[in-house]
Amino acid sequence: MKKVRIAVFVSGNGSNLQAIIDYERAGHIPHGEIALVLSSRADAYALSRAALANIPSAVVSRKEFSDTAEFEKKIESVLREFKIDLIVLAGYMTILSADFVKKYPERIINVHPSLIPSFCGKGYYGLRVHEAALNYGVKVTGATVHFVNEVPDGGRIILQKSVMIRKGETPESLQTHVMRNAEWIILPRAVEMVAKMIAKGRELEE
Ligand code: GAR
Repeated sequence: MKKVRIAVFVSGNGSNLQAIIDYERAGHIPHGEIALVLSSRADAYALSRAALANIPSAVVSRKEFSDTAEFEKKIESVLREFKIDLIVLAGYMTILSADFVKKYPERIINVHPSLIPSFCGKGYYGLRVHEAALNYGVKVTGATVHFVNEVPDGGRIILQKSVMIRKGETPESLQTHVMRNAEWIILPRAVEMVAKMIAKGRELEE
């Protein structure tokens, strides 16, 4: 059986990338393989993680292109070069246009650090999501993995996991808590679920 070829898009630390690498290396992604790590920044630590795992990587930075169309054309050509079937946004901080996203229906997934539809959409990324959850005073938060469509954080939900907010929590402590107890668990699982869906040409099954 041909494995689904996965590109993981990153911008920073890449702890979610690491969780997928570890899950794959443990044999839990039988339907897919990470074939490429694509970073929006040349200084992302995620690139070192890719190198350590012997995974090819590429840097495509928005600021090197005069407009979004040229930038996304470059991404598309890299995806073709590596014969990518599935894109995983794992802490990828550049917004992809509706035109781009429409070309890959149910072939792009994203991890978001809250329980969608809370604290999501435009302007909610990274620590800001956790600041908003703490400011609101919710007692439970979590993470969501969803398909990406033209609505920011609006695509079909694949998996969610909740996390209790502890006393004295700061945005930083909550971010770590949500990553460790939700993101790093559900993202690798969702990757295998979607890879299996693509490989078998069937609907999602848990
Ligand atoms: C993660 O918490 C991820 O959910 C979040 O950025 C962090 C990246 O960490 N993504 C978003 O906020 C996207 N809207 P990582 O680089 O260590 O995986």
